Amino acid sequence: MTDATTAKPIVIGVTGGTASGKTTVSHAIFDHFADDSVLLLAQDAYYNDQSDMTIEQRRAVNYDHPLAFDTPRLIADLKKLLHYQAVEVPVYDYKILNRSDKVIVQQPRDVIILEGILILDDPKLRDLMDIKVFVDTDDDVRVIRRIQRDIRERGRTLDNVIDQYLTTVKPMYHQFVEPTKRYADLIVPEGGQNQVAIDLLVTKVRAILTARGK
Ligand code: ADP
Ligand code: C5P
Repeated sequence: MTDATTAKPIVIGVTGGTASGKTTVSHAIFDHFADDSVLLLAQDAYYNDQSDMTIEQRRAVNYDHPLAFDTPRLIADLKKLLHYQAVEVPVYDYKILNRSDKVIVQQPRDVIILEGILILDDPKLRDLMDIKVFVDTDDDVRVIRRIQRDIRERGRTLDNVIDQYLTTVKPMYHQFVEPTKRYADLIVPEGGQNQVAIDLLVTKVRAILTARGK
């Protein structure tokens, strides 16, 4: 890792609708660098602390609205990482609809990949990013992937997923997520399968690191 006096880490923001392939793209970039040079950070870890709410109250929350996130904490943590300081990242648990009582201590790295549905919505957060990517996958493909994933990995039923999709996920996508596409430097169709876009991003990050003498 680099001396704190030389330069700040590079922040790559990867956004797009639910199940568009943000995590897949982020991991594909991660895999091209040495283990200790890239930090993957998920906006989901920064959903609000809901420990004082009942499970019924948590089920009623709109998780696709910007106010569902503890954005001040995410900004504060990102600023610490930009100063090469370690942070304590909350661990989110979709099954209890809350962060768990654990945190993961993340060491600073030269490249930070921040992925999430609403990372480009807040200008203060957006301004911390060097490269902004929007993963653009058709809505029908995303909803199919989401049904499969949420039943398999997030403890949901088919009815839950469909109901949530129609009441909040879809309208919030059109109101808040899709409009942030205009801030993207790069729009990547079909995220995880788009090897050309991933290679371009890796090349760009390497060029920035090299220019900074890293
Ligand atoms: P996001 O982080 O945007 O929610 P993920 O990368 O986690 O999306 O992908 C959502 C789901 O779709 C996962 O189960 C993943 O394995 C699957 N998936 C992602 N990209 C593809 C792809 N190109 N083809 C098929 N399935 C994919
Ligand atoms: O990984 P992905 O980008 O799909 O994660 C964001 C999605 O997680 C949001 O669309 C939101 O509806 C969903 N979510 C959820 N339940 C929670 C927290 C988030 O369904 N408790």
